[in-house]
Amino acid sequence: MLLKNIRIENAAQATDIRITGQTFASIAPNLMAQPGEQVLDCEGKMALPPFVESHIHLDTCLTLPQVGVNKSGTLFEGIQLWSKYRQGITREELRNRALRTIRLYAAHGVQYIRSHVDITGGLTTMETLLELKDEVKDLVELQLVAFPQDGILSSPGAKSRMEAALEMGADVIGGIPHFEFTREYGVESMKYVIELAERTGKLVDVHCDEIDDEQSRFVESLATFAYAAGLGGRVTASHTTAMHSYNSAYCSKLFRLLGLSGIHFVSNPLVNIHLQGRFDTYPKRRGLTRVKELLEAGMNVSFGHDDMSDPYYPLGNGNMLDVLLMGLHVCQMLGYDELMNAYRIVTHNGAKTLHLGEDYGICAGNTANLVVLNAPDFLTALREHAGVVYSVRQGKLIKG
Ligand code: FE2
Repeated sequence: MLLKNIRIENAAQATDIRITGQTFASIAPNLMAQPGEQVLDCEGKMALPPFVESHIHLDTCLTLPQVGVNKSGTLFEGIQLWSKYRQGITREELRNRALRTIRLYAAHGVQYIRSHVDITGGLTTMETLLELKDEVKDLVELQLVAFPQDGILSSPGAKSRMEAALEMGADVIGGIPHFEFTREYGVESMKYVIELAERTGKLVDVHCDEIDDEQSRFVESLATFAYAAGLGGRVTASHTTAMHSYNSAYCSKLFRLLGLSGIHFVSNPLVNIHLQGRFDTYPKRRGLTRVKELLEAGMNVSFGHDDMSDPYYPLGNGNMLDVLLMGLHVCQMLGYDELMNAYRIVTHNGAKTLHLGEDYGICAGNTANLVVLNAPDFLTALREHAGVVYSVRQGKLIKG
């Protein structure tokens, strides 16, 4: 396959890309088509490595309206509604919903998805999604997190379910320290997830400090344990919305630790601008972590949907440009360079969070995965809500 006249990641000059089999064979201007080769003229549009969804819950997605309406708009009412609904989930219903969600993502050029999977009610959900992982591998690469929605220390049997889920094939260890009964349980749970990561070699992604309580400081525990174990690059703190409310003196001290630890951060702008600040009158706090400051300090931050049409968030359709637009506005990141480079948050940064390695990216020798957007550069793509013209995965055209 030959892609002609294509701009790679905002490049001023267009070039050509030849794909042979599943690999980017060569990237250079004026490549000549070979006999029988499929040629796509990209007309100067931009190519990016595929979008990465760093944080979603495939088990809750598309459960509206059956799950009921979250009247207060709080995380806690969402968890209550979900806790009731999850008792009646069947394999078939879950499989169909997850498949529909994955197809929405694929239509928007997402080829990598990290999904948290609630293991509180048992392991059927994890089993079903592990089966699906293999079935959808030609569309997306799925990473599954063993997620203890009701806590690790506060929920009977959670530790054994976590460990069984990892043995079944879950890729990532989850946690939720701010939802544990006590601060002590929260800290102990962070120690446990890092010890489990050391024991099993799995990655870690914790729902961390997703609350407007400025006293919720479990990210310091997670970062400290990860740093002590030398595991920072394999560990992610999702949400960290309490950081929005920390005083800046504490944040200044905290940032040193976070930088030393090398952990990753995932922010979920659509969901947290909706769920957070619900106990405030006015002024109301924004519900996002300090994305701009973390990035400026050289730390890795990626964005996710978190939820899609479920008790936590009623909208969402798998388009990472929507996630970016919300995040960039809320975090006041609308400078020219910030807009042009924003794609990195949902591509390269997401790839680092998911630990995808050197094979991710449009370079000769890498696996041929890319998307082509209907715009010449990323600022235009954001402004015009540009669609995905082509999506190529492992050398095959899966959209276009
Ligand atoms: Fe989440």
